[in-house]
Amino acid sequence: MGPGVNAADSQDGDARARAWSRYWGRGVRHSCPGSFHDHYGAATQAFWRERFAQLNAEDRALELGCGNGSLIRYLDRAGPVWPASIDAVDLAELDSQWLGQIAPALRDRVRLHPRTPAATLPLADASVTQVFSQYALEYFAGESCWRELARVMSPRATLALIAHRRESHLAHLAESESVDAQWLLAPGGPLDRAEALLPWLAMSADPAARAQRAADPRAAAARQAFNAVYAELDARIAAAAFPDLLRETADGVMRILQAAAGRGAAPSIDALRVLRAELEDNRLRVAELVACALDREGIERWQRQLQQIGCTQIEVGEISEQNHLFGWSLVARRG
Ligand SMILES: C[S@@+](CC[C@H](N)C(=O)[O-])C[C@H]1O[C@@H](n2cnc3c(N)ncnc32)[C@H](O)[C@@H]1O
Repeated sequence: MGPGVNAADSQDGDARARAWSRYWGRGVRHSCPGSFHDHYGAATQAFWRERFAQLNAEDRALELGCGNGSLIRYLDRAGPVWPASIDAVDLAELDSQWLGQIAPALRDRVRLHPRTPAATLPLADASVTQVFSQYALEYFAGESCWRELARVMSPRATLALIAHRRESHLAHLAESESVDAQWLLAPGGPLDRAEALLPWLAMSADPAARAQRAADPRAAAARQAFNAVYAELDARIAAAAFPDLLRETADGVMRILQAAAGRGAAPSIDALRVLRAELEDNRLRVAELVACALDREGIERWQRQLQQIGCTQIEVGEISEQNHLFGWSLVARRG
């Protein structure tokens, strides 16, 4: 899947929606929690502060792909004026707890639309004066989405967004984690080997079972296979430019193995399956980021698309955070 494909319409749309739903259901605040505490970094915040300064109290805003409300929470903190309404749309099931943490006067203006693809916006024609999107539009900017934007944007509406960039630090990190996740999950990989070893470790609490294990060559083979793959995992961590996912998974697996004797085999295997499912979701998200991040040709394609829906002033910029290239910024005005 690449930019310009409406992912919601693609065959894996449901799997993606489920993966994002599980992600937001964990209460994560935005899609890059490993790199930033909240509201991304200084350049991202500066871009949005400038946009918020242009808002007026009559504006009717739309946020596409809102996730767990990172942008609206920042508006709560930094917006000098709040728009009259904000429709926040996302394909995923959303955790709405964050709404309870923003000012009631802003909360009253927010209408959250979970399980709502951008290709079918529940909004009237020409009803939106401000469109926002933060690291989201690139995931679903297909023809039907542009058509919907053309329909709901008022004749003088503004669109402001930040999008993933192909050459960015985040895209490189995602690319590396995508390869790592695939290796961790592969047959014969660390998760498989840990699962094979778990029943033997769970015998440790019982002396009779321990004696039985000592006499069983399959136990030694399972340990040997696990040790070999873990040596490979250590080597990969040492050589990696982005070792976090490998390291976190290694730690998670070790915790499960260490608890196996007290916990028993079946609950330990369940815990490992939870870890596997999280890793599988992670793999899907990072692979999607890599596939959707825009190169220069991609952002130029968006500019042409925006011209076709009547945007005359289009400004494209770069967002860099922590000395790394991060994303594209874009502001477009209709009319
Ligand atoms: C990288 S996250 C960004 C979330 C949020 N804007 C942030 O900055 O934390 C991309 C979001 O796009 C949503 N998404 C993916 N496809 C979509 C679609 N077709 N329509 C609406 N939202 C979609 C995902 O569910 C996810 O929440």
